Amino acid sequence: MIQDRKIVLYIAASLDGYIATKDENLDWLFAVEGEGDNGYSSFYQTIDTILIGRTTYDWIIKQENGNFPYQGKECYVFSSTPKEDTEHVRFICKDIIPLIKDLKARNGKKIWLVGGGKLVDTFLKEKLVDEIILNIAPKLLGDGIPLFHKNDFESSLVLKQTRQFNQFIELSYEVLS
Ligand SMILES: NC(=O)c1ccc[n+]([C@@H]2O[C@H](COP(=O)([O-])OP(=O)(O)OC[C@H]3O[C@@H](n4cnc5c(N)ncnc54)[C@H](OP(=O)(O)O)[C@@H]3O)[C@@H](O)[C@H]2O)c1
Repeated sequence: MIQDRKIVLYIAASLDGYIATKDENLDWLFAVEGEGDNGYSSFYQTIDTILIGRTTYDWIIKQENGNFPYQGKECYVFSSTPKEDTEHVRFICKDIIPLIKDLKARNGKKIWLVGGGKLVDTFLKEKLVDEIILNIAPKLLGDGIPLFHKNDFESSLVLKQTRQFNQFIELSYEVLS
């Protein structure tokens, strides 16, 4: 039997579970002393497809002064309103679940779910996340954009690996259900 390829949520958060401040600031995260690239480039080699929420996409483009950093990968950005595709990105505004299932069934490397929290919520609700790799920053933000939303369902995970990159702790989980 051919197994579907995995969707991996690879993301960093504060210890209290926020991925950005309310005004989308990530300076607190970039200020953390890690080690090398904290395992990013070896993770990046394991994926060939990237899924991004529209707010995160806008943030990335602003942060990178208009450049898209994931060129050469198959990239999808999700929005509730139609938008014109770019050279590097396809915008998806409907039938997202069938598309994801189709992507999973194709041959290839793993699929990176970049976030943010709203898109992660959609994927968790649909039980479409297979792995979570979470880098915890030593910071309590108190408030901000949550990685995980309040929900009426549970997910069970199994811890596969922990690694320390100086001040970051990386937790790797497989999602069971
Ligand atoms: N710490 C980290 O590693 C990390 C990683 C990723 C992101 N971030 C940060 O997280 C923040 C954004 O997170 P967020 O939770 O506010 O937003 P998000 O998940 O990035 O994007 C939300 C938007 O995505 C679209 N969307 C989400 N679910 C959808 C669905 N089921 N169908 C169609 N469209 C859907 C909608 O776009 P429309 O509004 O266009 O309809 C929605 O408003 C940014 O500041 C970013 O920098 C941090």
